[in-house]
Amino acid sequence: MGKKKSKEYVCTVCGYRSPIKLGRCPECGSWNSFVEIEENPAEEESIKPAKPVSIASQSVKAVEKRIKTGLKEFDRVLGGGIVRGSIILIGGEPGIGKSTLLLQVAGILADFGKVLYVSGEESYLQIRMRANRLGINKENLLVLTEQNMEKIKATVLSENPSLVIIDSVQTMQTKYAEGAPGSVSQVRECTRISTEIAKQYDIPVILVGHVTKKGGIAGPKTVEHIVDGVFYIEGERMDVMRLFRSVKNRFGTTNEAGIFEMREKGLVEVENPSLAFISDGGVLPIGSAITAIVEGTLPIFIEVQALATPTYFPMPRRVANGMDYNRLLLISAILEKRMHLKLGGYDIYMNSVGGLKLSERSSDLAVAVSIMSSLFEKPVMEKTVIFGELGLGGEVRPTVGAERKVKQGKRLGFKNFVLPEFFKEKVREEGVNLFFVKNIEQAKEVLF
Ligand SMILES: Nc1ncnc2c1ncn2[C@@H]1O[C@H](COP(=O)(O)OP(=O)(O)OP(=O)(O)O)[C@@H](O)[C@H]1O
Ligand SMILES: [Mg+2]
Repeated sequence: MGKKKSKEYVCTVCGYRSPIKLGRCPECGSWNSFVEIEENPAEEESIKPAKPVSIASQSVKAVEKRIKTGLKEFDRVLGGGIVRGSIILIGGEPGIGKSTLLLQVAGILADFGKVLYVSGEESYLQIRMRANRLGINKENLLVLTEQNMEKIKATVLSENPSLVIIDSVQTMQTKYAEGAPGSVSQVRECTRISTEIAKQYDIPVILVGHVTKKGGIAGPKTVEHIVDGVFYIEGERMDVMRLFRSVKNRFGTTNEAGIFEMREKGLVEVENPSLAFISDGGVLPIGSAITAIVEGTLPIFIEVQALATPTYFPMPRRVANGMDYNRLLLISAILEKRMHLKLGGYDIYMNSVGGLKLSERSSDLAVAVSIMSSLFEKPVMEKTVIFGELGLGGEVRPTVGAERKVKQGKRLGFKNFVLPEFFKEKVREEGVNLFFVKNIEQAKEVLF
């Protein structure tokens, strides 16, 4: 007799599991987010022993066959191309360009073999229209509009393509799971079936996943550990710059990133990504400062802009675009206390050029400097890069990648660097001015 099916509940937001249905998730605090999942325990009687294979029996080259797409940045972030038999998930907010990027990849690879592009959310005509715009017209690029996972699997087995793209995993449905498409149990099971296709038949599968406002792949964080790699496309929909970032990669380093520009012809690699987030023109306007963050191995220079205007309301406004709102409040408070600036009488608007999110604390100092620049109505010293985390006492703390930022900055023509004093003995560079600062006061002395 087989064992009874065991019941379990999972939080659709963070993937926390519990044997009972909870009203509020103890992990992420979401309300009413638990749904039931069922797992079938293996039936032990029928299990036959498997035959393990020695690790020395095959050369690594034969095991690790990568398919290069020719989109250099895409391949690089993946760790050198798509690994045969692997399954990866590409996530992003609505309209960011997931279908565009994958149709481009499909178009390129269709020159070398059959590619199956399955769409559960767009009609054949819509896909044709996009393909026309991107200039893709390949005999070997097969389009299937289907949501039934069993049918997709059967089609894959009969067509035997060299790559399968499933757009998106949230629209797929299988009879092996309950619930509507997009529910945790459906997405998990559809991902599992896709994994089976990839591993058993050695066909790489790319899944598209929609991202919720909170930043996770909608519903199932749980699928992230089933797949070999998780990648995100980030950026502002209204803006043209897109960051393609690796979050998990079993076949390459994580935290690698590539930069693309969204054009009519699709996503185009940016030639000089380090400067993609700086507005044009030599002299920076008042209220602007340039900072550097490290994405993977690549230092990226970002212009932060501040506008401080007298407020006409009892409560001054604070608006943060491209940075954490609370971080802006904190930096404003540090400026009030340590620099004795009366920011209470000013509205402050912050913006990062190109809409890249300033998630790194090393941009703190540049944010503070841009606010001061707007307030004093003085531009920041020319060709200057500013980085360092701000402590509550106004001290400037070290952050990662200082040496790389200075080296790459020099290559791009920056002349001055304002950086934490911590690096005084550690970072040296001929031909540029390095200003090591202990605190925000010293940064002000140097810059204005
Ligand atoms: N003619 C055009 N010229 C330039 N860019 C365009 C053009 N048409 C569409 N786009 C860009 O393509 C984006 C939509 O891309 P795409 O449909 O690939 O996104 P997606 O992530 O798949 O969206 P969804 O979540 O709806 O599936 C638009 O936001 C826009 O930036
Ligand atoms: Mg799409």
